[in-house]
Amino acid sequence: MQDKISMGLNRTGLKASPLIADELLEQFDLQDDVPAPAIDVHALRRAYREDAEPVGSVPPPASLKGVFGAAKEALSGNRMHVLLDKLGERLAYERAGVRLYEAMLDKIVDAPDLPPGLTIQALREIRDDEAAHFALLSDAIERLGGDPTTQTPCADVTGVQGLGLLQAMTDPRTTTAQGLQTLLAAERIDTVSWELLVSLVDGFGHDDLASEFSRAYARELEHEERVRGWLAAAVNERAFGEPEPKSS
Ligand SMILES: [Fe+2]
Repeated sequence: MQDKISMGLNRTGLKASPLIADELLEQFDLQDDVPAPAIDVHALRRAYREDAEPVGSVPPPASLKGVFGAAKEALSGNRMHVLLDKLGERLAYERAGVRLYEAMLDKIVDAPDLPPGLTIQALREIRDDEAAHFALLSDAIERLGGDPTTQTPCADVTGVQGLGLLQAMTDPRTTTAQGLQTLLAAERIDTVSWELLVSLVDGFGHDDLASEFSRAYARELEHEERVRGWLAAAVNERAFGEPEPKSS
């Protein structure tokens, strides 16, 4: 299996330099005399928060049907823009999911050997599910009178959060197992977020969306389980030379 991690000369730990480590720890003992830092980071963040604009906004529904729908929802006390914001978030996430799986496919295409069960075909199936979920959400937003091309505030935030995942995945140094760990993080967020979305549309009384989203949620649970299995096999193979942990 592709595995670029081995023992080597890593100097990042304290124990790599015991003499300097002692000197450093002595400084900690003197900390009572250390003056307060020139910058109060908490006050600085508060100052930025006070001046900050919100991360975007949700536009009013574009279609006549949507305006009517939104007005109806508002009359019943529900807040349609909350739903459109969260739908926009999942839409952005599923699009990013396709890109993440594409990057994983690039990573393993030349790998000499893969953990048991992990195949190009299996990864393509999950990638295609993410693309289908993107299309499902786009259609749902249209049906509610929204604009699926809108970058909603929650879509923006989830995009920023996902940058770290994509960065880890596309780093040429990361291994198949590290790619799987990255996918597992992405899938875990995805499953709990779909669960929340199902209860949200249910709360709005959109039974049709609730049943379509429940099916998507079930598929996402399968993704998480498959990725978790591949990751466990990859790590166990490195640790024990076989995909199952050795019983002691
Ligand atoms: Fe997924």
